[in-house]
Amino acid sequence: MNILHIDCSPRPGAHSRKLSMAIVERLLEVSPGAGISRRDLAFHPVPHPWPDYATALSSPATLATPPPGSLDVSEFLIREVEAADVIVVGTPMNNLTVPSVLKAWIDQVLRAGRTFRSTPAGKVGLLRDRPVLVGIASGGTFAGDRATQPDFLRPYLSAVLGSTGLKTLHFLTVQATAFLDEDQAIVAREQALATIDFKCFAEVPCPGCIG
Ligand SMILES: Cc1cc2nc3c(=O)[nH]c(=O)nc-3n(C[C@H](O)[C@H](O)[C@H](O)COP(=O)(O)O)c2cc1C
Repeated sequence: MNILHIDCSPRPGAHSRKLSMAIVERLLEVSPGAGISRRDLAFHPVPHPWPDYATALSSPATLATPPPGSLDVSEFLIREVEAADVIVVGTPMNNLTVPSVLKAWIDQVLRAGRTFRSTPAGKVGLLRDRPVLVGIASGGTFAGDRATQPDFLRPYLSAVLGSTGLKTLHFLTVQATAFLDEDQAIVAREQALATIDFKCFAEVPCPGCIG
């Protein structure tokens, strides 16, 4: 099994980093031989769309003959996704949704004719489905009965990744981090991890786990 492990928080001791690392550790327990590719979007951000890239994506004609080199970053990042059997993302909630470094990655990975096809009925994904485990840290509460703010993060990620064919998303949350001491944060992380049956991610996943 190959794991693509993505982090987005600029804080070294971040809750989302600890959560994504714990997810990877649980995966390694059930698949000890798994390989890990690392993409740290906070410390090594991918570029926001630049003129040549935006020009390439502006029409089917420009996508067919893009400016030289304009799709190289996109292609590299898409191949990382394609090489993964499981994707683990650790991300903060920033202003109700994903941080801009994750949005920049999404802007490279969603590419017409490569990861999705546009049809009159909407986008059709061209990537093989595989599990995406998303560990979210938020200063306040956005899910459950005690939510105090809207959640544009989970629906957004489900929509954009789903449009590429990545439809099997699992969200784990550590919420209200602004009010957690270290012990409470550990408990919150364990509770988040307990929502997932990691046996489903063993080297040979059970059929019900995918798609
Ligand atoms: C720019 C910025 C925007 C934020 N927006 C929100 C928000 O909309 N909702 C929320 O609950 N917390 C928000 N926070 C707080 C973070 O989600 C919280 O500190 C979280 O623990 C950060 O993740 P990390 O611990 O993995 O770094 C924001 C933090 C920053 C820096």
